[in-house]
Amino acid sequence: MSTLCRILPHISRGVALIASTSGVLFCMPCAHAIGKGDAAQGRTKFTACISCHGADGRTPTSPGFPKIGGQNADYLAAALHAYKSGQRNGGMSSMMQSMAKPLNDQDIDNLAAYIATLDAQK
Ligand code: HEC
Repeated sequence: MSTLCRILPHISRGVALIASTSGVLFCMPCAHAIGKGDAAQGRTKFTACISCHGADGRTPTSPGFPKIGGQNADYLAAALHAYKSGQRNGGMSSMMQSMAKPLNDQDIDNLAAYIATLDAQK
């Protein structure tokens, strides 16, 4: 496993994919090594998101709320930064702007890392 973890970060985003499609949770430490996010920390923050996106990020409580579970972590982080800065606006983005405002950069990275793991239990 340690060898695996040393190799995996170099495959970059493939890692999360490998970890999630196979449901192999021992790859979590690798997930920590890639990107800047800590999925375990992100999980605690994600409680604020469940009411709209669902506990697994893929069962939104309204058809207008996007499925975010299992999305690419970089994409998720970029989206959250864009809401926070107000760069992403229009549509229903005001909902997300107010969610993203209080998040700092580390929160965003952690959330993105966690949400990216959420397609594991398909
Ligand atoms: C009040 C309901 C609500 C809550 C709570 C909420 N969201 Fe959202 N989220 C939305 C809606 C609505 C959109 C689509 C907004 C738009 O039109 O851009 C969205 C979009 C997103 C997107 C962009 C998805 C994409 O495909 O581009 C991300 C990422 C996201 N939310 C993450 C989060 C996170 C992380 C939290 C918790 C901190 C959270 N959301 C809490 C309603 C919510």
